[in-house]
Amino acid sequence: MNLGRAAARNTPATANRWMRAPKENKQALKVGSFVGCVCLAGIVSLVIPARWTTSTEHWLPAFVILTAVAILLEFVSVPLPNSGSITVATIAHIATILLVPAPFAAVSVGASVFVEEVVRRAPVPKIAFNVGGMLVTSSLCSLALGFTGDIWTIRSSGGPQVFLLPAFLVVGLTYHAVNLVLTSIVFAITSGRSITHVLRANTRGTVLNDAGAASVGAFAALIWTVEPLLATLLVLPAAVVSRSFKHSHRLEVETRSAVRSLADIVDDRDATTYHHSERVAAYSLALGKELGLAEDQLEVIEQAAAVHDLGKIGVPDRVLLKPGPLTPAEFAIMRLHTEIGPRILNQFDLFHEGAAIVRHHHESFDGSGYPEGLAGDAIPYGARVVAVADAFDAMTSDRPYRSALSASDAVERLRAGRGRQWDPVVVDAFLLLFTAGAIERSMRIHDPALAAVDRGAPTHRLRPSRAPGDGGPPG
Ligand SMILES: [Fe+2]
Repeated sequence: MNLGRAAARNTPATANRWMRAPKENKQALKVGSFVGCVCLAGIVSLVIPARWTTSTEHWLPAFVILTAVAILLEFVSVPLPNSGSITVATIAHIATILLVPAPFAAVSVGASVFVEEVVRRAPVPKIAFNVGGMLVTSSLCSLALGFTGDIWTIRSSGGPQVFLLPAFLVVGLTYHAVNLVLTSIVFAITSGRSITHVLRANTRGTVLNDAGAASVGAFAALIWTVEPLLATLLVLPAAVVSRSFKHSHRLEVETRSAVRSLADIVDDRDATTYHHSERVAAYSLALGKELGLAEDQLEVIEQAAAVHDLGKIGVPDRVLLKPGPLTPAEFAIMRLHTEIGPRILNQFDLFHEGAAIVRHHHESFDGSGYPEGLAGDAIPYGARVVAVADAFDAMTSDRPYRSALSASDAVERLRAGRGRQWDPVVVDAFLLLFTAGAIERSMRIHDPALAAVDRGAPTHRLRPSRAPGDGGPPG
């Protein structure tokens, strides 16, 4: 992975953050300071005395050819979940660091990154960060190699070649660790998320890919010491590593998008639940933050909330859209959505954690809910959060069997059901958010009609503020 080079390229929001002038906010100032430090450290790293060297006739051809290869490979990259990217140029970088002594290895790696960034017309701060970061990374790898012994010395020593393994391991680990930490720090600052969360998100699912790229790079270096021309044989495994990067990322994006689309189809079947899941996800995220949940928990809860009613895909229109109270038989059919949804979600690794939240989002704190009648702490915490968000949105939306409540009436109902239907701690957090105006702001952002009113545009759908309807279970 390379210091978030694709971040600005692939995500406009991140690009804009990079482009902001430092005076605009504290966050930009923090990023600017960090970039300055990394850039300075990169320049300083070039004057650190080399801990190993070899004859020019050994390293010069590797320097020239691998720099050219790295420049080409720089343009083959795959975006990561939290911005940033993995690039197969890692293969050429690792081989260069193993074959070329400091500071030339760092110059080669830095040059390839610089060319790519300039060709892509990246903003100057981003070029400075990425080039500076790669200089630091390469220099630290060269330094570490001085302790394990370099590839040229080990190969010519006539001793056990197994001593190459520590060299490969140290370079691979140092390269990825330094890269990952620097990238994660800058993403954590720009996104406002914790460093541990960004680290975890960017490491998840990419460790094998990174290790694969490093291994191919190490083999390339080893083969180079036997016969440089033979190193061209590694084009095929390099292409395989590149394809695996792309496939794993595309699979993740497509799975998320497909499942969310299914959930949106359910919302769209009923005009009164249009954008319901989107709003529930937004309220759940705000609630989770108010409750001080960890970043990875927030992500699971937000995702589960966005697909919490997915199971309604198996509920027929005559029940889902019935303009009146449901009979016991019809209600039994409606309840099935808490079983159908998790059954679908459990097919996907990405939604496995959220499946339990989806299954239990209709449980009541006193044990009177469904599908299992769980009570109190036995209900998954995320499900207790989504239950409050879901109930508020259901109460403030028109439903086939009743009109919408006003937001303040819905809040009163939540207060009345505190400790009975809903977790009191979660309800208290919701009340705090509501009092602070955060819920109403979120309603406006996620409701096209209200957003249109805010923009002064004409609208045909205004949320009425009427007397309570039947106050039935949230949808
Ligand atoms: Fe539901």
